[in-house]
Amino acid sequence: MQTVLVTGGAGYIGSHTCHMLIENGYNVIVIDSLENGHREHLPEQVRFYKEDLNNFEKINTIFEGNEIDAVIHFAGYIEAGESMQDPIKFFQNNVSNSINLIKAMKNNNVRNIVFSSSAGVYGQPEEMPIKETAKKKPTNYYGLTKLMFEQILDSAKVYNMQSICLRYFNAAGAGYNIGEKHNPETHLIPLILQVATGERNNIKIFGTDYPTPDGTCIRDYIHVLDLAKAHIKALHLLDRNIKGKFNVGTGKGNSVKEIINICREVTQHTIPAEECPRREGDPPELVADSNKFKEFDWQPEHSIRDIIQSAWDWHSLQKQT
Ligand code: UFG
Repeated sequence: MQTVLVTGGAGYIGSHTCHMLIENGYNVIVIDSLENGHREHLPEQVRFYKEDLNNFEKINTIFEGNEIDAVIHFAGYIEAGESMQDPIKFFQNNVSNSINLIKAMKNNNVRNIVFSSSAGVYGQPEEMPIKETAKKKPTNYYGLTKLMFEQILDSAKVYNMQSICLRYFNAAGAGYNIGEKHNPETHLIPLILQVATGERNNIKIFGTDYPTPDGTCIRDYIHVLDLAKAHIKALHLLDRNIKGKFNVGTGKGNSVKEIINICREVTQHTIPAEECPRREGDPPELVADSNKFKEFDWQPEHSIRDIIQSAWDWHSLQKQT
């Protein structure tokens, strides 16, 4: 049985992945500072350390005290907008603290790492759908930190380490009786569902004059369980010494207006929408070409309706409890 160390395991994608790892027979060790994570979203079988990656000595001690076969590195700040207000906070956590993780891996002869990267590494590519070979020109510091750490991981081959970087598109949906809970919430689907539960009065549409069919931005929404499954696939690939960088999306885009309409159908709520100016830095369209990863027998299984239904099942339950 393999033991996997998961950083940021109490976060949204991390916690869903931990449940799936346990379900698939892995031993799971989680390091999470709980600055943004939720301890209660973790399965009880995980060994949990409340620790920050900035504390190299503590992290190294955790590696020394456990037989770790591989690492999945989710921990990091995620708000692109915030990264433009406070870039150093992002470089410190997403780059510098992440280097502590590589140092601890190196000290303890742990070779394999799966890294949470992002479509944010591309910026605003000219060709859609986006292939891994597209130019990397991040439009915010968040995307830059992800690109920098991908490059740092490339350099770690000198220490005989190997990595898979998964470039997520828009994670959404819920499973295992847990869900998406950011504070403050900035993501489209949970914000829309908060209108349906009565926590918000309306959803603001950021821009209706984009060069898209209905004028609103198009994104590739992927179910968090399909993402979790991608991490397990990545662990298998590393076991076969297959490494690389992969887009993880569905290849299908939906506009903001389409998403609002599906949410209306699923929740049976009118969900008032207000047309607002563009949000700074939003590319008009981001859709993944994930064929490179699909060659390794990974396929997204969930439709956009499944995604929204699962998110609604969880959100509506939260409201009742
Ligand atoms: N949007 C609205 N109203 C809102 C919130 C969002 O219209 O209240 C729009 C945005 O303008 C954007 C779309 O909905 O066009 C999706 O916005 P999100 O904030 O949900 O997601 P982003 O596409 O901005 O970013 C997400 C993650 C990033 C990641 C990126 C990769 O938050 O971390 O996907 O594609 F890098």
